Amino acid sequence: MSFNAESFIRAMPKAELHIHIEGTLEPDMMMELAKRNKVTLPHNSVEEIRTAYQFGSLQDFLDLYYAGMSVLKSERDFFDLTFAYLTRMHQENTRHVEIFFDPQGHTERGIVFNTVLDGISSALEKARKEYGISSRLIMCFLRHLSEDSAFETFSHACRCKDRIFGIGLDSSEKGHPPSKFSRVYRAARDEGFVPVAHAGEEGPSSYVCEALDDLKVKRIDHGNRALEDPLLVQRIAREQIPLTMCPLSNKRLQVCPDLTKHPLQKMLDAGLIVTINSDDPSYFGGYLTDNFLAISDALSLDRQALITLGRNAFVASFLPDHEKQKAIDDFDLFISQF
Ligand code: ADE
Ligand code: ZN
Repeated sequence: MSFNAESFIRAMPKAELHIHIEGTLEPDMMMELAKRNKVTLPHNSVEEIRTAYQFGSLQDFLDLYYAGMSVLKSERDFFDLTFAYLTRMHQENTRHVEIFFDPQGHTERGIVFNTVLDGISSALEKARKEYGISSRLIMCFLRHLSEDSAFETFSHACRCKDRIFGIGLDSSEKGHPPSKFSRVYRAARDEGFVPVAHAGEEGPSSYVCEALDDLKVKRIDHGNRALEDPLLVQRIAREQIPLTMCPLSNKRLQVCPDLTKHPLQKMLDAGLIVTINSDDPSYFGGYLTDNFLAISDALSLDRQALITLGRNAFVASFLPDHEKQKAIDDFDLFISQF
């Protein structure tokens, strides 16, 4: 029987390592929360919101992303947002998620840090109990804001170490190099937070080097432009630093407008640990499965490439060793039976 990539992708046990919880805010929930919280939106219908989602660059998207999150106010809002994403992930056979959140996107507009964290973490706990989905929470610093603001956010995280596993760096990349955050990353590493960072999405390959050298990250989020530096590619392969790729995001933000030209296969061929993720699914037109389907279709990925990508997500996860091994064994069992 010939290999059916779509059924394989749908049935495969999955993990997602690059997802911004605020980027899962669907237009219908945005409208509902705007009503609940008496927030005026610039758009009057779900269709109008969707039509506005046309982005020429990362910044075009970020402007709408920050505007959209203004409807999130109460702990219940953050719970509803997170649990809706986790329910979707359960339906997609996703077993493990590592979720970014952007506290400064909320504290800057007067929302209390713990309102955000309590809502998100109670949804993660409910999904663990009801769906068996394991999770890690990664708190991102907004790189367009100051180092002082990052330190203030870090001080909140220090009081909630039991619930925040790692730190990340996101928002407007160009002009905000990783080195701007060297000191807060060092302080966070000293406190036991695991570091990751967005780098080489729009910014140059030198930002990927800085993320590795100055921030000492354990994974690079995106990293597309690392390919411009062959020595850096060799280094990422040698040090086995995973890259969390987001195909539909790359397409919609014009990082790679034509997915048939996406560098994913080249990265796999170079021995990089690449994973597939959705980034901000409600803005970019698809969740985890959609991202697998889109890239598989565009690059005509074969069964072996899909297996590698699927397994990589568990390999590159921050699960403790015994849970990671169990997840990989479950994945391999699925492969042997499909
Ligand atoms: N915040 C949410 N999505 C992002 C992305 N793709 N790049 C940088 N910051 C982000
Ligand atoms: Zn991202």
